[in-house]
Parts: sequence; structure tokens; C-alpha cells
Amino acid sequence: MTVQAEHASEISPDRLVLLLVAGVTILGGFLFGYDTAVINGANQYLTARFSLSPFQEGLAGASAILGCIPGALVAGALSDRFGRRRVLFVSAILFAVSAILSAVPYSFTEFLVARWIGGVGIGVTSMVCPVYIAELSPAKYRGTLGALFQLGIVVGIFLTLFVNAAIQSLGDDTWNTLRGWRWMLGSEVIPAGVLLLLLTRAPESPRWLASRGDLATARRIIGQLSGSTRVEPLLADMLAAKSAEQGGFASLFNPRYRRPLLIAVVLMAVSQFSGINVVMYYSTQIFTSAGAGIEDAFASSVLVGLVNLVATGVALAGVDRVGRKPLLLFGLVVQVVTLATTAWMFSNGIGGLPLLVSIIGYIAVFAMALGPLPWIICSEIFPTSVRGAAMSVATLTIWTSCFVVIQTFPWLNANPAVGPATLFSAYSFFSLCGLIFVALYVPETKGKSLEEIGEEWGAPQPPQSTGRSAGV
Ligand code: GLC
Repeated sequence: MTVQAEHASEISPDRLVLLLVAGVTILGGFLFGYDTAVINGANQYLTARFSLSPFQEGLAGASAILGCIPGALVAGALSDRFGRRRVLFVSAILFAVSAILSAVPYSFTEFLVARWIGGVGIGVTSMVCPVYIAELSPAKYRGTLGALFQLGIVVGIFLTLFVNAAIQSLGDDTWNTLRGWRWMLGSEVIPAGVLLLLLTRAPESPRWLASRGDLATARRIIGQLSGSTRVEPLLADMLAAKSAEQGGFASLFNPRYRRPLLIAVVLMAVSQFSGINVVMYYSTQIFTSAGAGIEDAFASSVLVGLVNLVATGVALAGVDRVGRKPLLLFGLVVQVVTLATTAWMFSNGIGGLPLLVSIIGYIAVFAMALGPLPWIICSEIFPTSVRGAAMSVATLTIWTSCFVVIQTFPWLNANPAVGPATLFSAYSFFSLCGLIFVALYVPETKGKSLEEIGEEWGAPQPPQSTGRSAGV
């Protein structure tokens, strides 16, 4: 066959399929962000509606996080067994059910159960979405496509700020009507429905299909994602990696995976112990306690959300060019400095614009590095056979750490022996530990195929690897 003829018979990647995969990832992240942050706006209305005590108010917020933990835990095994797409489908149903039930509860207990169901959905999505996108992305774009998950999260968080504002503008008497907080919680059924629709058309992960022996479907999907000429070598790599590996939760604790497991757990924990969600969820309170009026504090919070969104765009553009490690190192260095500066300002009673600039600086670099990269790296560094189980451990770590930081902040912040200066110093210190860890232990994964990355840990070598980094 001549070169020209070869070109003529080559079928190039199907953009629509890639768009579907990207859409699933963004919406998965969006629901995650929306569902976690939506409660902040609804809290005061719930307190009035159900006459909540402060403890119950805390429970209203924590019930979803308490659902995330078991969700993340079971999602790994389920997605290894039933496939990434099917499990995402179930999580979209959970979001829809939770949205409807939490908008029309008869009692506070019903509300808690409804939120817990949504939390299970977040736990599942946060584990499966990054794996799904990593397994379906061509290696060249895997970082950018992975960062779409984070983009979805920050858009979700940002949008809730406006829904919150819209509800407040309706006035205080709306709590017992069908408007207000009910709409806020219930409207999540729309993105959940769209996700369900997309998932009816989106492809299953070819790596998962290959690991289950469905080679015909795997072949078709690889062709759609990477073009027809790449199919056989890529499939050969996937099969070789599969035959060399025994999967499951137990094999994750094989000494071979000690290093990637440590990387996953440390990156996820550092991302939370650097205090990101303290700023995301308590920023208005932080700015008012530093002397800002409520309107300025709210405007500052909107600005925080906006910077988070824009800087995530920078990560999206840079991650496959600059690479994961340089971006992480840069982000962590600036983060150590901005968090320490914030602590210093608190201890010297400096508020207003300087404090805002310092916090915004932290948010900007977090969004470029420690926000998206743990999700991306964790989804890349394990072989397919243990990826689900490994991602479960990683997401379990992030949700437990998130729970600890969120629950302890109001109490430690108000405690005269601790206060915001000590807390932000601690967040800076954890970031410094993260910086040293990344410099010493985290490998660069940019541009490599998932099989090549697996080989770095001495994962059993595929006998003959031919697909290499150009492929999925
Ligand atoms: C990252 C963190 C998440 C946080 C978000 C804020 O996704 O993992 O916990 O809420 O960034 O932008």
C-alpha cells in the first residue's frame, strides 16, 4: 500500500466521542462542586424551617461529606467489576434522587438522608470521573482533559455563590414556600439529568473493556479516540499490561505500589491540609472577622471564586506543556509564601486589601497546581488492574481530610489559644511538607502512556510494548 493509500484508509479520531468524554468529566466535577457548596447558602433557611440547633446545623453540612466517604470506598471495587460508565450512571441517579428528596423533605431526618445520598454520589464521582477521563484520553491531552474535572468542580462551586445571592434577594419569608432553598437544592436535578443523557452515549473505558476481554468494543473505542492506525499497538499494550498484572484491593498493598500509594495519599492529604476548603466555604466569615463589612466580604468571596475559575484555565492550558511536576513545585512554593503571609497579617491585625491579595494569591496558585494535579496524578500512576482500588484510597483520603479540616476550623478559629494566624501558619507548614515530598518522590507523567507510567514502579513489564506514548 502506498503512503497515500494508507492515509486515505486511516480514520482519524472522532471529535464527538472526545467531546462526550470531556462533557461527562466536566459535569461529574460540576455536580461534585455544586453539591458540596450548595449547603452553605441553604443553611440559614434550613435552620429557620426545621428550628435547628447549632449541632444539627453542622450535621446539615456534614451529612453529604459523611456520604462521600463510603461512596469513595465502594466505587473502586464496583467500577472495576461493572465498568466506569455504569457506576457513573448510578452516581448521576443518586444526584438526581438526592436533589429531589432534599428539596421536598417532611422532616430534618429525611433531609439528612437525602443529602447523604447525594454525598455518596459525590464520593463515587470523585473516584470514577478522574479514572474514566485518564483511561479514555490520548496521552498527549491527558493532563488537559483531566484538569476539566477540576474546572467542573470550580464552576460548580462558583455557581452556588450566585444561586445563594439570588435566594437571599428573594427575602426572608421564602423559607416555607416552594421557592428559595428548595429550588437551590432541587435544581441540581438538571445537571444530573444531563449527565445521565450524556452517559447513554458516552463510551466505556477501552482499558476496562480490554481487562474484561471485550476486545471488539475496546478496538472500536480506541479507534474513535486515537484514529484507526493506533488501534492494534495500543490494544496490544493494554492486553500485555493486563496479562502481566493481577488486580484487586489486596494487590494494591504489594510493596511494588508502596511509592505510588504514598504519593496518592500524601498529595490528597496536603491538598486539604493546605486549608483550601476553609477559604472556599468560610471566606465570607474570614473576611468579616478581619474587619470587612458583609457586602465587601461577599464581594471578596465572589472574587475568590472567580480567581479560582480563571486560574484553573491556566492549569488546563499548561499541564500538558509544562508538565505536572514543575507546575506542582511552582504552586507549592508560592502557596507556602502566601499562606505564611496571610498568617502574618492575621497576627498583626492587617485586613482589607492586603489580606484579600494574599488570600487571592494562594487561591490562584492552588487552582493552577494543587487543585487539579492530585486528581490527575492519582488517576495516572497506577496500572489499570489496581487503578479503581487505588483511586478509592486516594478519594477516601481527600474526603476524610476535608471532613477534619472543615469540622475543626470554626472551633479552632474561635479558640483564643489557636485563632486564624496559627491555623494559616499550619496550612503553610503542611504545604512546605508537600513541597519537599513532591521534589523528592513525585515523578513526571506528562506525555507517557498509562502503561509506561506503570512500568516506573516496576509493574510487571508487558512482554512487547508498541503503543507507547502517542496513544490513549
Ligand atoms: C480541589 C480540591 C477540592 C476543593 C477544590 C476547590 O478540587 O480537591 O477539595 O474544593 O479544589 O477549588
